[in-house]
Amino acid sequence: MKLKEVSARVIKDSRGEKTILVSVNGCLSSSPSGKSTGKYEAKPYRHGVEHDVAFINNMRFSREINKFEDLEFLENYVAKQIGANTMFALEASVLKALAKSQGKELWQLLNPAINPKKAKFPRILSNTIGGGAHSNNIRHPDFQEFLITSNNNPTKSKEINENAYCQAKTILKNLEQKEIEKNDENALQTSFENEKVLEVMKDLQEDIHDEKSVHIDIGLDVASSQFFINGKYGYKNPKKNLTREQQIDYIAELIKKYNIFYVEDALDEEDFEGFAELLKKTKGECLICGDDLTTTNLERVKIAIKKKAINAIIVKPNQIGSLLEVKKVIELAKKNGLFVIISHRSGETIDNTIGDLAFAWGADFIKTPVIGVERLAKVDRLIEIEKSLGR
Ligand code: PGA
Ligand code: ZN
Repeated sequence: MKLKEVSARVIKDSRGEKTILVSVNGCLSSSPSGKSTGKYEAKPYRHGVEHDVAFINNMRFSREINKFEDLEFLENYVAKQIGANTMFALEASVLKALAKSQGKELWQLLNPAINPKKAKFPRILSNTIGGGAHSNNIRHPDFQEFLITSNNNPTKSKEINENAYCQAKTILKNLEQKEIEKNDENALQTSFENEKVLEVMKDLQEDIHDEKSVHIDIGLDVASSQFFINGKYGYKNPKKNLTREQQIDYIAELIKKYNIFYVEDALDEEDFEGFAELLKKTKGECLICGDDLTTTNLERVKIAIKKKAINAIIVKPNQIGSLLEVKKVIELAKKNGLFVIISHRSGETIDNTIGDLAFAWGADFIKTPVIGVERLAKVDRLIEIEKSLGR
């Protein structure tokens, strides 16, 4: 396939911030952007979004792209001239155009060997109550995300997560005696302390079990690099400073006390050893996940594996840009028994590519809330795939 019509323009994401939309042979893709970003993430743009837009609009790429692996030609052509957000949007739109030209779905192109009758769908991991960097209320929990997940049936899981979200809102409203606002990624805002929110999550779990007879698991994104200052974890709600040893003990204690199923970035992004200690301490009872720690970067994932730091990994395609790299990261993670979580970003667009990536490459989870058109686009894409397969 020749790339005949390639263009780009600036659009606004769900937070009203500038991002890039790329069009290739009439197929569109756009990139999300993070706020709680890891230090080792690739730069989103080479010299700002406008520079990258101009580069794409002036591209004269003449080689054919006929399969996923041919993205290498494109990556050589754009090498060091665009940022990771632009690379992701460009590659995703090229692949969508290629799939269309071959009469295939994107997931089929991404994994020609997939058995669509048997391939599992990812479980939807949804941020329900938010704190940390995404809060705009002064008093908020230090932990960034209080998450839930149920089963791996996209249609049912969407309904359960939506239900749980509404129920969480009711619980908070009753306890706080006020209207509950949403944060910048549609999670519910609260002024409660960290553990109080975990109690709310426990109540939520029980309510959903009693009313719907379904089990939901509770997860946590600590995003601890955001409050790791001068060698201490500086909590504000309630106020306390923890050393890394104390932080490991504290998180392990919370995991036990609240039966937490998943914990992301419990330690600072440099502390592979701290993650390893926590993993050892929790004996595989909980998914100890890296996000800022690993930043979808193959070299960092190799270190994490070597040091036995994690048993789960967040994959955010725009943290690295190259889909060839994303595939390598997932393959390496799976080969080493890590659970794979493909994730949205806090600033999102309606692009649904990560739905296809998650299904095609066998992710165990897709991390995205079920509230708002930008997040639902990913969930609804999975439901579309599910329905098209008659499952
Ligand atoms: P983001 O981070 O704001 O960079 O998307 C969310 C997360 O930490 O998972
Ligand atoms: Zn995170």
